[in-house]
Amino acid sequence: MTLTIDEMATFCKRKGLVYPNSELYGGLAGVFDYGPLGAELKRNLMREWWRFFVQQREDIAGIDGAILAHPKVWVASGHVQNFTDPMLECPKCGEKQRADHFIETATGKSADGLSRKELAAMAKELRCPRCSSPWKELGAFNMMFATHVGPVRDDASVAYLRPETAQLMFADFRLVAENARLKLPFGIAQMGKAFRNEIAPRNFLFRCREFEQMEIEYFIHPKQLMECPYVGEVEKLRMLVYSAEMQKSQRDASEMSLGDAVTQGTIKTPWHAYWLGKTFEWFTALGANAAKFRIRQHLPEELSHYALDTWDLEYAFPFGWKELQGIANRGDYDLKQHMEFSGKDLSLFDEASKERVIPHVVAEPSLGVDRSFLVFLYDAYDDDKKRGNVVLHLHPRLAPVQCAVFPLLSNRPELVEKARTVHLLLREEFSSVFDRAGSIGRRYARQDEQGTPWCVTVDFDSLQNDDVTIRDRDSTEQKRVPVARLAETVRALVRGKPFSGL
Ligand code: GAP
Repeated sequence: MTLTIDEMATFCKRKGLVYPNSELYGGLAGVFDYGPLGAELKRNLMREWWRFFVQQREDIAGIDGAILAHPKVWVASGHVQNFTDPMLECPKCGEKQRADHFIETATGKSADGLSRKELAAMAKELRCPRCSSPWKELGAFNMMFATHVGPVRDDASVAYLRPETAQLMFADFRLVAENARLKLPFGIAQMGKAFRNEIAPRNFLFRCREFEQMEIEYFIHPKQLMECPYVGEVEKLRMLVYSAEMQKSQRDASEMSLGDAVTQGTIKTPWHAYWLGKTFEWFTALGANAAKFRIRQHLPEELSHYALDTWDLEYAFPFGWKELQGIANRGDYDLKQHMEFSGKDLSLFDEASKERVIPHVVAEPSLGVDRSFLVFLYDAYDDDKKRGNVVLHLHPRLAPVQCAVFPLLSNRPELVEKARTVHLLLREEFSSVFDRAGSIGRRYARQDEQGTPWCVTVDFDSLQNDDVTIRDRDSTEQKRVPVARLAETVRALVRGKPFSGL
């Protein structure tokens, strides 16, 4: 049984994963706090992304840009003028609704990809939910959060909280390329906070006003846009593909290999296939359920102001197929805009072709941290009726706690002391907790619910033989391991050794 998103929010609050922000004062819509376990899980998730997409690659360098920037960055990027959502406003009571969401709820039909004209036509048939008046003409609402920098609060001191991490990677592009000695094709990566004043935040972490992104801007020589030296790595991956053409002709998504999708021209550039495949690979290697992913091309009407073509990696959330990662072809839009607005040259000399070029971003993989957090939780959640408790089957690299160490009996000082020693030993390398509260069964259940892969118990035999039992969360199988080999055993398990092979 899959939890609804509200049930997931309740579970997250109960387990200390995620809390509604400032609940003490009635909360702030679309803003959440990560609790003790959630902070660890989120940190692990972001570390794994950074490891896979930055540290383990030679063609990508990472930055950590600021949240505030010169306001011209956002004028140049087009966000100040164009970063809007379609909005319905009631002329009588002032009610405001995001048009596509309101239409979806009111009609039960998907509003994905509808043009402004189509949304306006549908809205004409509908009424304000508060006072039943007809809506005003379809409006547009800018989602940028504005603030003031310095002591004077006037138009000249306005600055914006970044609505995406991306722009700093363009603004710092020349410096990063030179410092990291990157040669085309190369990428710049960044992860961190983004802020959007969503008209209607909803579905818990899925649509928030403050969230985090993990993004890559990948720069390519303009004459080599179709040359992706790495596409072979993903060619054989099979995915559910839903092109714009399939959507227009009302056909179903179709499963195919990414190699075939490129050869048949369904996916126009090998770079899109490559980044979609790599992210899919990253999710599934960390335990996500491959059957719940598909890739969907944006309809022309859906494209952002900067995008020539966009594919989303989508996930089957309990409230439908929804975007997890957007991969837009931004062309040379951003670098050219920043050249025009700053008056600075952002072209690069490419040694291989001996040409000075403005690189293109054919594919910009942009993944939401909070949505990924939900995916890993949904795919890990298992209400195990036989055990009588929830088990979170989180990958050991993501689990907030990797080992929990227990004395078999909490009132026997010799067991408590030895268990503490074992815990301190494990804590040098892994995240480990010490727990002596309640029966051993209750302690196992508590760790199952927070996704701890291994529980280590010190019993009376341990005092004689200097060994412990280690229990596997997923199978509940137990093995005895000498304390001297415990760290190496856990290290092998984290790296993927099957428990049954110990
Ligand atoms: N730089 C491109 C960009 O920002 P986007 O599709 O607007 O593209 C990328 O956002 C990802 O950021 C989305 O796929 C989603 O995972 C996440 N995201 C966007 N808005 C969000 C929100 N309001 N709450 C949570 N995550 C969000």
